[in-house]
Amino acid sequence: MPDYIKFVESIKHKTGIDLAAYKEAQMKRRLTSLYEKKGYKNFVEFYNALDQDRDLLNEFLDRMTINVSEFYRNGKRWEILQHKIFPKLLAENKRLKIWSAACSTGEEPYTTAMVLSNYLPLSQISVHATDLDENAIQRAKVGIYPERSLAEVPNEMKTKYFEKQGQFYKMEDVIKNTANFKKHNLLKDTYDKNYDLIICRNVMIYFTEEAKDQIYQNFSNSLRSGGILFVGSTEQIFNPGKFGFEIEDTFFYRKK
Ligand SMILES: C[S@@+](CC[C@H](N)C(=O)[O-])C[C@H]1O[C@@H](n2cnc3c(N)ncnc32)[C@H](O)[C@@H]1O
Repeated sequence: MPDYIKFVESIKHKTGIDLAAYKEAQMKRRLTSLYEKKGYKNFVEFYNALDQDRDLLNEFLDRMTINVSEFYRNGKRWEILQHKIFPKLLAENKRLKIWSAACSTGEEPYTTAMVLSNYLPLSQISVHATDLDENAIQRAKVGIYPERSLAEVPNEMKTKYFEKQGQFYKMEDVIKNTANFKKHNLLKDTYDKNYDLIICRNVMIYFTEEAKDQIYQNFSNSLRSGGILFVGSTEQIFNPGKFGFEIEDTFFYRKK
């Protein structure tokens, strides 16, 4: 059996993570550069080592997950969310059920809360925030960010909701308290239902077409009729109708 396929099987057995659902060439390249840097010759040697070494397993998880994020990522889209999507959703429902899926280190759910705070008191805002990577979730809960993550944050929000601590910025508790973080694997775990808004950005690019189709279908099943899916700025869905979506705006889909 080829080296990589065996590795994929062993990782699935050990961690429950199915690397076969991620684009193979890309994933192989990232993992090969990690094991070569560590001095291993092939995937078999690499697996045997990480099977024995928790730190190496964590490094592998870090490498495969890619946690890059920032506040108000692709700022124009968040303006659409604020000025077009939220007013419509709030006209239909006073409390919104929101999920930031693959939320990484928290910038996305916290941005959602800041944007929604233009309409609702923070005490009425709750964002369900999930990621596969427990380390990322831990960092999200701590909520300390380098300045570059805040480049797109409007000044008013920066003053109101961040405290400068040396080179870093700490997210204020009032915003942190709006997010409920939980580990969730999009490829394997069950999806909650009846969401008004699901935000899932900059993770679908890593998945195979089959995995993407399954996830879009799951999102569609999880949204209430009229609910919105907000995707990343390179992640347009080419056949939204197949999943029961219609286009609401660029990168926003409404469940029919
Ligand atoms: C590039 S970050 C995107 C963060 C944020 N959504 C954004 O757009 O800035 C991708 C995230 O997807 C997560 N991820 C990868 N595979 C996943 C899976 N199967 N289920 C849930 N999250 C996953 C990674 O751990 C990582 O935090």
